[in-house]
Parts: sequence; C-alpha cells; structure tokens
Amino acid sequence: MKRLLSGITPSGDGSLHIGNYLGAVRQFIELAKSNETYLMVADLHGLTTIQDKKQLQHNIETLVLNELALLRGFLTEEQFRSIVFFRQSDVPMHTECQSVLNNVTPLGLLKRAHAYKDKLQKDVMEDDINVGLFSYPMLMAADILLYRPDLVPVGKDQKQHIEITRDIAGRFNRIYKKDVFRLPDGYIPDEVAVVMGTDGKRKMSKSLGNVISIFESEDVIRKQVMGTYTDPTRGHATDPGHIEGNMVFAYLDFFGDPVRVKSLKDDYRAGSVSDVEVKEYLFDSLMTFFGAARTAYDELKNNPGMVKDILSRGQAAAMQVATRTMTDVRLVTGITTQYSFFQYQKPESGSSVSIDEFARMEIRVGHVTEAKNKEGSDKLIRLVVDIGETVPRIVFTGVRGFGYTPEDFSGKKFLFITNLMYRKMMGEESQGMILAVDGADNRPQFISAEGMPIGSKIR
Ligand code: ADP
Ligand code: TRP
Repeated sequence: MKRLLSGITPSGDGSLHIGNYLGAVRQFIELAKSNETYLMVADLHGLTTIQDKKQLQHNIETLVLNELALLRGFLTEEQFRSIVFFRQSDVPMHTECQSVLNNVTPLGLLKRAHAYKDKLQKDVMEDDINVGLFSYPMLMAADILLYRPDLVPVGKDQKQHIEITRDIAGRFNRIYKKDVFRLPDGYIPDEVAVVMGTDGKRKMSKSLGNVISIFESEDVIRKQVMGTYTDPTRGHATDPGHIEGNMVFAYLDFFGDPVRVKSLKDDYRAGSVSDVEVKEYLFDSLMTFFGAARTAYDELKNNPGMVKDILSRGQAAAMQVATRTMTDVRLVTGITTQYSFFQYQKPESGSSVSIDEFARMEIRVGHVTEAKNKEGSDKLIRLVVDIGETVPRIVFTGVRGFGYTPEDFSGKKFLFITNLMYRKMMGEESQGMILAVDGADNRPQFISAEGMPIGSKIR
C-alpha cells in the first residue's frame, strides 16, 4: 500500500465536468481503492485568481460537494471513509512549511515555472504579477512534502510542479543533511488524453463553455449533450455519417456500453440512425454512469452536517501527519530553541507544580514502545516513546522506588509533557516527562491514554 496525495484548486466555478473526471478524478479514484489516500481542496491556491469572497466560498463548497459525490459514487462505503479529505486552509502547517521552503528555493527555479511564464505572455508586466501566483509551486511543494506521499496523481499540466517539488525537497535535505522530506513521484498516466470539448475544437474547459457537467440538472446536461459537435458534413439522418472527430462517439467510447456503441457506430456510418437518437443514448449513458454519484451529491447537499463532519475528520487526520513533518522541520532548521521550551524546575518541597507551570505544559499522547530499567540506577526506568514525531523520544522516570516495573509501561499509552527542556540523566538526555498525578500514599499514578491517537495534543 502506498500513500497518495492530490489536490484540486477551486477555480472556475468549482464544479467538475466529464473532462476533469476522465483526465484526473478517475485515476485518483482507481488508486484510492487500494492505497492510503489524502485529498485536499486547495483553497489557498484559489486566492491567486479569485479575490471575491462570495465567489471563492461558493467555489470551495461546490468543489467539496463535487469531489465527495464522485468519491462516494464510485467507491464502497469503507473505501470512502478511509480517504482523508480536507481543506488546505484547515491545516495551518501548509503555509508554515511554505514559509520555510521559501528560503531554500532559488528565484530562477520559480521563474521557469509555466504558470508564471504563461501569465507573462498574456501581456501582464512582471511587476504586476502577484507574488502568490509566483510562489504557487512552493505552496504546492509544501502541500505535498508535508504528507511524505509516494505518489502524487495529477494531470499532465502539473508535471512541472512535481519536478519543482522534488527539486526543493532535495535542496532542503542537502542543506540540513537529513532526509526530512521524501521526494515524491508524479503519477501521470500517459494514456490520459486531454478530453476535447463539446465544440470538438478545444480542450474541454469551464472557461470555454464547452463542457458536459456531471452534477447539473438533467435539463442542463441534456442541452449540453444536444449541443455537442457531431459530423458537420451530415445533412440528414439518412446520410452516411463520420465517427472520427465526432464528439458524441468520443464520449460514448467512455460512457456507453461497448456492444451498443459499436452497433450505433455501424448504423451511423450506414445512415440508419439520427444524431438525436445517438445523443439521447449518450445522455442516458451519462445518467447511468454518474447515477450513484448524482444521488450522493443530493444526499450530501441536503446534509451539510455530514460534509462538515467529513471535513473535520479530515482536518484532524491531516494535522497529525503534517505536525509530524513540521516538528522535524523545526528541529533540523533550528526554529525550535530551548527558549520556546518550558523548563521544569523542581519545586522546593513536594512534587506538585503550580497552576502557572501546568498552564504552560504541552501534553501529548505517547506510546511506550520499549521500557527497561536503567543500568546503574535503582530508581530510573528508561522509556522509548513515540509521540508522533519521526524519531521516538527517550524519557526517564524515577519510579522504581514506588514499586513500578518496566512492564507497567511497555506497550501502553500515557500522557507525556513534551515541551520540557531536555535534561541530562546519567549520561543520556531525557526528552520529556511522563505525566503523573498523586495517588494514594503519595504514590504517583500515570494517566492511561489507551484509545487515543499517538501524538495528539491534549493541551
Ligand atoms: P478547467 O480547465 O475546466 O478549469 P482545471 O484546470 O481546474 O479544469 O482542471 C482540474 C483537473 O482536471 C486537472 O488535473 C486537469 O489536468 C484535469 N482536466 C481539466 N480539463 C481537462 C480535459 N479537458 N481533459 C482532461 N483532463 C482535464
Ligand atoms: N495545482 C494543482 C492543480 O491546479 C492543484 C494542487 C494544489 C495540487 N496542491 C496540490 C495537486 C498538491 C497535487 C498535490 O491542479
């Protein structure tokens, strides 16, 4: 099982057409069936072109509904639930990571980016191009690198962005001499041709008005189908017609039943079937093909609570992975200093901490993967603790005097204080503390965190 990540920008009006489906979403859905999958709505990227609040909100909502409906329509309930679907702006690490990446990226790399160069060619002065558009590839690199995916399925137009991402990741790893980022591979299937629009001339694109929609009303879709370019040389239904370049048949090759499509083609060539009949069949085929997705669309649209729930589950799951990566980034770059850590001072008497100290503690769920008595000490137990970072932490606890043994900790989850200054203990650093409360007879008691996700932050 591989990890996949992809994103779609809420541009246009946020809705997806059959070109988007065939060119991008379909591949993604196929891969999602057997891989660990992250999918985001790249709303921060939307800001580069859409600077109208109503429009952007509308697009984000539309895209969320469109994508979820397609996923739900073509996947089983279980596959659907396993996808981490989230909004880019719900995970603040994206911008944080971009900010760090800015500093390992040479200007020249971005100047060679197509999106920027295209804009320059459209009579826009370099000085007038917004910096967001210019650094678009860097935000996308952050989107990708935070999740350490194996594969990034995208359309052909995104190939260069993946290359830039690999380049930036490589530079970062070299500069900081640690493989913090995984260099991702694009997944750009060759056979994915560009889908031509209903005009038969240009790529299907919302901005060209030559699309067939997926989630519009039947009336709208019927009109789009009826307006599709067929064979301009054919005057009457009884004239022999051409299949090549005929968009209705091009779409039928994907959405129709192959046997029926073949016989329709024969009839069309022979002049024994009308354009309208073939278009009716295309319309019916689309309704059948996208039937489950259209039903899911209505259901989701009428249940905003359901959508909200999916997005907040997605946010939580994405944050866990993104936090892990950013912790590493902070550690290797040095933007975590001892000053931002909270230094625990042993109180004069007793073992309690003040409210003020308690308020400053960062507490996380840690999984003890290993526990042993520390050699040469009659008090200390040495714990190896996974708190959701790449490298586990070593934490000492001096509780053998209270009758605790390594077995009391091994394999279990507890709460740990994770922002203490590291402290040398018998030649090794203790990188945190297990949280204890006073129990009977002043015996410390540890707080079980079974069932809670590793690394989750309690406060
Ligand atoms: P549009 O051109 O309609 O605005 P986008 O640029 O937002 O569509 O594309 C979203 C995704 O769908 C991209 O991965 C893109 O490669 C793919 N895509 C868009 N139009 C087509 C098309 N006509 N044929 C194949 N893939 C397409
Ligand atoms: N730039 C991509 C597009 O226009 C969308 C995108 C944003 C993306 N972040 C991403 C794709 C991360 C893959 C991975 O289609």
